[in-house]
Amino acid sequence: MGHSSNSAISLIGMPGGGKSTVGRQLARRLGLQFVDTDHVIEERVSSSIASFFAREGEERFRDLESEVLSELVSCSDHVIATGGGIVVREGNRRLLHERTVCVYLRSSPEELLKRVSRDTRRPLLQVADPLARLRELGIQRDPLYRQTAHYVVETGRPSVFTLVNMVLMQLELAGVVDPSTVPSPVGSRLTSD
Ligand code: S3P
Repeated sequence: MGHSSNSAISLIGMPGGGKSTVGRQLARRLGLQFVDTDHVIEERVSSSIASFFAREGEERFRDLESEVLSELVSCSDHVIATGGGIVVREGNRRLLHERTVCVYLRSSPEELLKRVSRDTRRPLLQVADPLARLRELGIQRDPLYRQTAHYVVETGRPSVFTLVNMVLMQLELAGVVDPSTVPSPVGSRLTSD
């Protein structure tokens, strides 16, 4: 439809940055399929990410995440939302950069905290001081997100509608999508990821 590249579009960034919400809307606007690496993993292991982490540990989760990503990058007509830690592994960074059009949704730790504060589904943030954890993860990961992504979109506090338009505009400017074929928008508010 409005997608002139043969690659999937991927969204990366910290937990709570809106990857799933924005990804779903972006896919709808472009007439593409939406897929979320975390959901694929949950289906594959028949349990939540949180209980899989508790049972098998982070390394095993990362192995599965890499396996799932390597399958999904071949799905050209897709928008792929990823887990926040996907950039930790070098192989994943390379796959995302070389095989997808990769967009980094960037938010401050304070903004992220607002969106994840009542959420118990994210095992890495179940700590006494989640803001400190988000800052620490942000410092470690921001350079990795930047080197992986082709485009960085600062999310701030706009609605999903605005955020999706920002991503679309970026992709249009880059010639990845053809503006004349993108159907008119359907808006919604950014609630959680
Ligand atoms: C993780 C983020 C989560 C999920 C897992 C690990 C991380 O995804 O993949 O809990 O390391 O930041 P979201 O970014 O969708 O929360």
